[in-house]
Amino acid sequence: MTDSVVEEIPADTLSLLDGTEEARYGDFGIPAAVLAEMTHRCPLQCPYCSNPVELERAGDELTTEEWKRVMTELADLGVLQFHFSGGEPMVRKDLPELVRHAREVGLYTNLITSAVMMTEEKVKELADAGLDHVQISFQGAEGTAADLIAGFKGGHEKKLAAAKMVRDAGLPLTVNAVMHRQNLDQLPEIIEMAVAIGAARLEVANVQYYGWALKNRAALMPTVEQLDATTRIVEDARERLKGTLVIDYVIPDYYAERPKRCMGGWGRQFFNISPAGKVLPCHAAETITDLEFDSVKGNKSIEWIWQNSDAFQKYRGTGWMPEPCKSCDFREVDWGGCRCQAYALTGDAGNTDPACSLSPMHDKIFKLAETEAVTDDRDFKYRNYANARTFTAAE
Ligand code: SF4
Ligand code: FES
Repeated sequence: MTDSVVEEIPADTLSLLDGTEEARYGDFGIPAAVLAEMTHRCPLQCPYCSNPVELERAGDELTTEEWKRVMTELADLGVLQFHFSGGEPMVRKDLPELVRHAREVGLYTNLITSAVMMTEEKVKELADAGLDHVQISFQGAEGTAADLIAGFKGGHEKKLAAAKMVRDAGLPLTVNAVMHRQNLDQLPEIIEMAVAIGAARLEVANVQYYGWALKNRAALMPTVEQLDATTRIVEDARERLKGTLVIDYVIPDYYAERPKRCMGGWGRQFFNISPAGKVLPCHAAETITDLEFDSVKGNKSIEWIWQNSDAFQKYRGTGWMPEPCKSCDFREVDWGGCRCQAYALTGDAGNTDPACSLSPMHDKIFKLAETEAVTDDRDFKYRNYANARTFTAAE
């Protein structure tokens, strides 16, 4: 793979996750980008974390050599981008070694991080290893509120310092801001902050409600008025900051007319690998508890798992679709929306995503969102191993 190929791949390939990206890289061919959850360990406790409620343990994580083997296999298959995610990938001491290996086998590398563990020494080590891009999550525009959401005191200040270190090291920066009722009023300041710290891209991503976020939905759901205001703020900022900051925007599903094209369609353009090596059609796929997933630790190749495994085949294409999707003109546009959301809200991942106005459940979830958005619930059920145990035992 040549550098020119790498440059042609946008850093936003992961917007497939939120359904904002159009199909570009062909159907069922190996995806261009892979999201690697290096660990579920994390110093932060965000109540909307996209990790499954049942968090994987450090002892189950792939070893350094296993991750290297996976990267080599992916590069041989034609994967171009490797996104180091978590949990917090920086808790892994072998991160620079793994970044170096990824670059050696020709993969473009992106670090998706909370950045609270970043130091100048670590940034230098990662840059020297060949890291291409850094994406830092922010929970708000100022410390008190942001730290409350993250469940980590002093985190916001550390993130600001880390962003400076990243830019000083010459690395491109994306700011990821997950938005909800308790921080949407800070959006104008978050946009200004992203410009001030030198980000080239800002992802304004409203919370998607499965896993941890579903458990915290009443405390997070925005009002319709908040959402309308947000859309205006984003549109104004896009115009005003043209050439300075690219802004991606994902609205909350519950208020949409049509569902998002989640993952670019199940098993069509995306997979991720869990800390223990499970190959998943989406980062939240394990919330669908009646699916079983193959692992890179088994004797099957990643290519075989992608092409043939039951979990990928089950909702791939249109053959699985019920009405109204089955005879809908949009069935090859949004691929029936999000399987995880269908499972979370209807108990069957094979149903039409209730975010779609044609779903018989749509009005019900719209009303539910409106009702929850005006509650004064502000209590977070934080994402941590203790709560994971409690929730998992109760399910
Ligand atoms: Fe998409 Fe199905 Fe709704 Fe049609 S009915 S718009 S295919 S989710
Ligand atoms: Fe949409 Fe899993 S989050 S398919």
